[in-house]
Amino acid sequence: MTADFRRILIDRATQPYYAAGSFAWHFARGKLRGDPAFFGLLEHGLIPDAGRLIDLGCGQGLLASWLLEARALHESGNWPPHWPAAPKIKEIWGLELMPKDVDRARAALGNRAQFDLGNICTAEFGKTEVAIILDVLHYIDHDAQEGVLRRIHASLPAGGTFITRIGDAAGGLPFHYSNWVDRTVFYLRGHRISRLYCRTLNEWLAVLERNGFRVKPLPMHKGTPFCNVMLVAQAV
Ligand SMILES: C[S@@+](CC[C@H](N)C(=O)[O-])C[C@H]1O[C@@H](n2cnc3c(N)ncnc32)[C@H](O)[C@@H]1O
Repeated sequence: MTADFRRILIDRATQPYYAAGSFAWHFARGKLRGDPAFFGLLEHGLIPDAGRLIDLGCGQGLLASWLLEARALHESGNWPPHWPAAPKIKEIWGLELMPKDVDRARAALGNRAQFDLGNICTAEFGKTEVAIILDVLHYIDHDAQEGVLRRIHASLPAGGTFITRIGDAAGGLPFHYSNWVDRTVFYLRGHRISRLYCRTLNEWLAVLERNGFRVKPLPMHKGTPFCNVMLVAQAV
């Protein structure tokens, strides 16, 4: 059941990317098949039901597609009985720096989610119940990271959820390997980055705590050679 279910969910979440072109479709399939974060968010029930969820640095909007299809499958009764319910989210908003990615997200998902071009360091987030940042914070400098965390905290109610995935800079070879892959994928997608602003897991925990979050770290690199950790935080 679960292997079949996994295939069905990947097929459904990638199918909308046909409309966004062959690169977008292949990229979506590769990412959803190979990155444990997407199933991990569901299997661990990390995302609560919410009126609004914001995905900062959303790329081509894969998380939105994933959550929409997960909920649709759940509602149709095709859902692993031992998994937590798929989150019910009324509104998903993705913010992304790269125009091509915003175009792909819009082409794939139309009005099922909203995608805007913008910089997470300066854009208004509005009020939200859930904020997610997957593999983005290390592209902006340390002061800017704190600024984003402060503004996310201000946009959440007490108890609101913030989830981010980071690489642990104390992770040795797997950490350096993931940075190399990161730079290569970015280069192939036509972006240039001069440096990455990483921290150790302990430094991430400290920076989140001093910006008003209670945090639970969850390793999220099963099946990959990386040392990524999902930080599941509650605004206090
Ligand atoms: C590794 S990709 C992850 C994309 C998406 N979160 C996912 O998991 O599929 C990082 C994304 O962050 C975006 N990004 C980097 N810096 C940003 C910024 N300052 N504001 C908005 N997006 C940014 C990049 O353009 C890229 O699409």
